[in-house]
Amino acid sequence: MAEKLRQAKRFIITACGTSWHAGLVGEYLIESLARVPVEVEYASEFRYRNPIISPDDVVIAISQSGETADTLAAIREAKLKGATVIGMVNVVGSTIARETDAGVYLHAGPEIGVASTKAFTSQLCVLTQFALYLGRMRALSAEQGMAIAEELVNIPEHITRILDNVEPIKTIAKEYSRASNFLYLGRGVNFPAALEGALKLKEISYIHAEGYPAAEMKHGPIALIDENMPVVFIAPKDEIYEKVRSNIEEVRARNGRVIAIADEDDDRIADVATHVIRIPRTLPMLTPILASIPLQLLAYFIAVERGCNVDMPRNLAKSVTVE
Ligand code: AGP
Repeated sequence: MAEKLRQAKRFIITACGTSWHAGLVGEYLIESLARVPVEVEYASEFRYRNPIISPDDVVIAISQSGETADTLAAIREAKLKGATVIGMVNVVGSTIARETDAGVYLHAGPEIGVASTKAFTSQLCVLTQFALYLGRMRALSAEQGMAIAEELVNIPEHITRILDNVEPIKTIAKEYSRASNFLYLGRGVNFPAALEGALKLKEISYIHAEGYPAAEMKHGPIALIDENMPVVFIAPKDEIYEKVRSNIEEVRARNGRVIAIADEDDDRIADVATHVIRIPRTLPMLTPILASIPLQLLAYFIAVERGCNVDMPRNLAKSVTVE
């Protein structure tokens, strides 16, 4: 596979739901580390639109279950058109794992709850390693690659620290558990994290939630902002931090209440946000992995507060094998 990956002119990531959100993070990672174009597409759209695929394309199918009907149909379409297809799958021996040309198992262990959680963080870790691998075949220096790999090794410890301090998230969940709508905003690599945070809340608490790139707020969603619309911002100290801060100020100026997920050493965020949930400082490209933990916990505590069954939410199935 190495030669194929080195020669690839384009990567197309296809998936559904949470796995599609991981794909959006993957686009950012692969394009920034390997400088190869990446497209991300819902498998359900990809399979029906007669996509343009050449033998220089590598299609990556991401799936927890390895049985999602739309993702399976998308890889069959890609193979028919001559692309190399790689799987990033959790369930060992599943149909997608068997039908792809090669692949990487997520090794998250069995995921029992219907809402995907540890599969998502594992997908982000695998995509980071895959992007590093592609990067090292191209322009990424050994030194840059090592810095990222070393920080990836620190991620479990950072997550343990978040899990050791969940009380502030519980308190916020209690305060907002009766809200009817939520907005989730983030920029760059944290835009997909915002989408995923909103999906988790929808799935297990049945509260309507939408994710947007923070800068898109002024193009419409800002009309919704008032004291009844909690807004969750993912605001780590990266190169667009100041822009995100001004988005937070815009929300506060309209009486909106802001829950900010911010770096533990950010001593300015409390000046603008209503509540702050801290995450350990890491490399900007790895922040979606850390930010997704408090987002999952927020959805979890809100759902528990509302008396919902977090493991088996209504109307959802763990494997979506129907079209
Ligand atoms: C995640 O919480 C969802 N239940 C759902 O969006 C899921 O990610 C989607 O159905 C794709 O599943 P897969 O990863 O098993 O292919």
